[in-house]
Amino acid sequence: MAPSPQGDANDAARYWEQRYQAGSQPWDLGQPAPPLRAIAQEFRAQKITGTMAVLGCGRGHDALLFAAAGLTVTGFDFAATAVHQARSLAQQHQLPVTYHHQDIFTLDATWNQTFDYVLEHTCFCAIAPHQRPDYVALVHRLLRPGGRVIGLFFTHSRSGGPPYGCSVAELKALFCPPLHLISLEPAIHSILSRQGEEHVGYFQR
Ligand SMILES: C[S@@+](CC[C@H](N)C(=O)[O-])C[C@H]1O[C@@H](n2cnc3c(N)ncnc32)[C@H](O)[C@@H]1O
Repeated sequence: MAPSPQGDANDAARYWEQRYQAGSQPWDLGQPAPPLRAIAQEFRAQKITGTMAVLGCGRGHDALLFAAAGLTVTGFDFAATAVHQARSLAQQHQLPVTYHHQDIFTLDATWNQTFDYVLEHTCFCAIAPHQRPDYVALVHRLLRPGGRVIGLFFTHSRSGGPPYGCSVAELKALFCPPLHLISLEPAIHSILSRQGEEHVGYFQR
């Protein structure tokens, strides 16, 4: 039977791994998501440093963006091919991103309060919706007190997935509490196929 993104952890990992092996990865922009570029630029301009986790980092384009801006970045993904390619890209760009080939839901307590930032981009929409409360609990415990989730959320309203859509109201209800909402606004500079369907959110622990 073909693996399913909604199956158990092994099944979901096999689903994503097969997508990368088949080169069937339309979510991969081959570059950082444009709405995140402005955020990274702000980090660079203000010389903001710190640690950042990128969950479901794929081939690591967004991780590289924030590493280049001066952050100490750790990427996590359970698709071996994505992690392998992310490591090669980091080497090519000579940027020191650390990647872990791991299911984010198995990160143990040694990771608690490790990060100043968690970057969310197309991981939340990739997990099965029933895992969303676990995702929020995970980002909450990964963040240091005062740390922030920076998210580019896919807020489309079509049924099915992945990508599974989410409304602004659902995002607020899921993340707050345990986090505090700083802002959640429509994204600007989305790629054409995602225009009007992305929000940039900041949530603080
Ligand atoms: C739609 S892709 C997005 C990848 C990347 N963020 C990007 O924009 O190119 C979703 C990614 O999340 C990863 N993923 C999904 N569930 C995961 C989990 N439980 N643990 C680790 N990685 C996961 C998949 O392997 C895949 O690389």
